[in-house]
Amino acid sequence: MSVVETKALVKRFGDVVAVNSIDLRIEEGEFLVLLGPSGSGKTSLLRMVAGLEKPSDGQILIGGKDVTFMPPRARNLSMVFQSYALYPHMNVFRNISFPLKAEGLPYEERKKKVEWAASIFGIEHLLHRKPRQLSGGQRQRVALARAVVREPGVFLLDEPLSNLDAQLRATARDEIKQFQRRIGTTTIYVTHDQVEAMGMGDRIAVMHLGNMHQLGTPQELYREPADTFVATFLGSPPMNLVKKDSCIIGFHPEHFLPEDVLHPETATFSFAFEVTRVEYLGADRFLYGMVQGAEGPTRIISKVPSLVTLNFEAGRKYTFVVQESDLKYFDHASGKRIPPLPFTTVEPTAQAVVS
Ligand SMILES: Nc1ncnc2c1ncn2[C@@H]1O[C@H](COP(=O)(O)OP(=O)(O)OP(=O)(O)O)[C@@H](O)[C@H]1O
Ligand SMILES: [Mg+2]
Repeated sequence: MSVVETKALVKRFGDVVAVNSIDLRIEEGEFLVLLGPSGSGKTSLLRMVAGLEKPSDGQILIGGKDVTFMPPRARNLSMVFQSYALYPHMNVFRNISFPLKAEGLPYEERKKKVEWAASIFGIEHLLHRKPRQLSGGQRQRVALARAVVREPGVFLLDEPLSNLDAQLRATARDEIKQFQRRIGTTTIYVTHDQVEAMGMGDRIAVMHLGNMHQLGTPQELYREPADTFVATFLGSPPMNLVKKDSCIIGFHPEHFLPEDVLHPETATFSFAFEVTRVEYLGADRFLYGMVQGAEGPTRIISKVPSLVTLNFEAGRKYTFVVQESDLKYFDHASGKRIPPLPFTTVEPTAQAVVS
């Protein structure tokens, strides 16, 4: 259980800046998610914390101690890779006990610890099998058990669930979260799946091209995205963005609703919304369509709960509204969040309903 800090941490590969001066402080027992698209620098950052990659610049502290140039084994951490990296010729028991053996622990103690780690992930009955005799989900649990068996101070996970199908992923997410809560190990978890990030992270660091765009709780990122990148990376479907003359406005699909449905508490902003496609998803309907932006028609989405029984047809226009309190404003040039503009300066595009 250790605090992990990075200070102005940089990793360059030739001309590529994989990690660009990242300052992070992960608290004791915290579950921090590194979220970003492919190539954003997540793995590079994690590998530097693990000691598998030398920083080009900056510092790493674990438990207050500068470990920047220390080897992995001096850092008291465990890492789980996307590929699991199990030893194919060893059975599950020997795979899990491997880190303990490397520490020279006697057999009886190793056995006790392996059984403990196996029980956390429900794989006690598989200890005699070889990795090739396991399903993907079982292999993933072996990799996790091997990572926790030493009871490390820090737990590093790099997309550990990416090889699993959707249902197994949900179960495994739950197992990892429960385990982490019970043991309280400081954890850094890498993913490019925003649903996973929102569901698991105490806080999320959003990365893009080596830069950290925002660090905050799932609620903070959702409600107060720092810029248009964060706004459009989170949520499914993500926030709608519409260019106006003075700025870009943003609003979540669930806040963009037919005017007769919304009971607004603040002023509203209305659009002529031309529906192009209706998708029925059980609890909700997604309406895909267009509104007028400053630079022409803009594609946006409305998420209408199924409680709303109004009929919508592709090819027709409807008046849809957003409450002023649900509008976010972003700067045109930088994409950064800006304070709300006076409502009157953001002229509603259209009031008339053409149907
Ligand atoms: N060993 C390397 N040599 C050269 N370039 C590298 C090396 N490792 C990573 N890079 C580059 O650094 C950048 C960040 O890569 P990194 O693997 O950290 O991204 P990532 O966020 O983990 O992506 P993914 O989601 O695809 O795993 C990329 O542009 C990548 O091509
Ligand atoms: Mg990666």
